[in-house]
Amino acid sequence: MDKIRIKGGNRLKGEVQVSGAKNAALPVLAATLLGSGEQRISNIPDLRDVLTIKRLLTHLGAEIEADGQNWTVRMSALKQCEAPYELVKTMRASVLVLGPLTARFGEAKVSLPGGCAIGARPINLHLAGLEKMGAEIKIEHGYVSIKANRLQGARIYLDLPSVTATENLMMAATLADGVTVIENAAREPEVTDLAQFLNRCGARIRGFGTDVITIEGVDSIDGATKFGIMPDRIEAGTYLTAAAVTRGDIFIRGCNPRHLDAVLLKLREIGVAIGEDPDGVRATGTARIGPADITTLPYPGFPTDMQAQFMALLSLCEGSSVITETVFENRLTHVAELRRMGADINIQGNTAIIKGVRRLSGAPVMASDLRASACLVLAGLAAEGETEISRVYHLDRGYEHLEKKFSNLGGEVTRMKQNS
Ligand code: EPZ
Repeated sequence: MDKIRIKGGNRLKGEVQVSGAKNAALPVLAATLLGSGEQRISNIPDLRDVLTIKRLLTHLGAEIEADGQNWTVRMSALKQCEAPYELVKTMRASVLVLGPLTARFGEAKVSLPGGCAIGARPINLHLAGLEKMGAEIKIEHGYVSIKANRLQGARIYLDLPSVTATENLMMAATLADGVTVIENAAREPEVTDLAQFLNRCGARIRGFGTDVITIEGVDSIDGATKFGIMPDRIEAGTYLTAAAVTRGDIFIRGCNPRHLDAVLLKLREIGVAIGEDPDGVRATGTARIGPADITTLPYPGFPTDMQAQFMALLSLCEGSSVITETVFENRLTHVAELRRMGADINIQGNTAIIKGVRRLSGAPVMASDLRASACLVLAGLAAEGETEISRVYHLDRGYEHLEKKFSNLGGEVTRMKQNS
């Protein structure tokens, strides 16, 4: 297993191109199961999770031609309807095939995703919504099996604005008989990207980006001749935070500032100079990092996927900051590793009380999940001395060419095999 070694203390400077969004690419690729025509999708990031969904789609019967970031997908017939444990255990987002398989082929069998480092993450809302649309659901031997002649339009109220539940039910409703209304729907930009892809394929979806989405079911959809995945706002947010924590100056090309309003607000609050232009966002860090209080919330609130990165940044603030995680019940595991680097953080329930310190010191640390690993990379870039991060396979799931991108900005970030 690889690990990453970082020599900290350099001010990062320059420009980085943002990649396509993992959390848009996964549902859009799952949605290709719905269309009988040729799907041409571009700006697909080179990530481990994307390779996993490629294996899953191929396993189900899709023909995929991948030319770098440009893929052509044809799903003319179902080879089989099962998403096996071997694949689902490596990526929970595999549950995104539930809706499209049930809607188009009338059956799906998907391994139930187990627990996750950041929380229990049940899929009860996905299943309750499909049941409301008339699906028969059985759970046994660790698998959920679904059968439906044809899904029926329904009014579905989500207890929580779950992102992938909204996406799964929106895909299912695309081929349902009648109109479906999803209330308390997720408003994340990735949901909008999926809806725009589906509409490009012939679906009739409106209200995406709001908390009420209406889907008029159609008999079939064709394919999208051309669709580009949106830029990754969390990757962009990570590089913006890197500029702040290293007191550097970085232009993130290709990101959409409107997707990052809550993040930019907090960066400005702590004193980072932010410049926006049609091509991207520039962040210029300052010697003094001011304190800030943050509560993670569903979009357009402060994203939980940026919480860990800000924990690293605010560890160096002048004064005290408070971070409250409200979306996932166990997403503060990176705090213990930051403490090993000299951070002064006290946890009470799902709240972290941070007393800013003047400096962090490099140390061997361990990544527990994707965004926790990004947090440790940022802490390592700011710390004095060397930091070694193990279990970096978490990073590869969601950050494209991370070492190269940071090295181009002047960071000393190298990847090593575990035994070297
Ligand atoms: C999506 O996960 C993202 N993943 C996550 O990004 C992100 O953290 C999360 O949304 C929140 O923004 C993808 O898009 C592939 P949720 P998702 O359902 O859809 C509870 C990353 O780092 N819930 O919105 O799984 C759940 O337990 C990843 O890129 C239920 O109780 O998140 C959580 O507490 C991590 N029952 C809350 O809702 C359900 O059926 C929000 O989860 C579904 C969810």
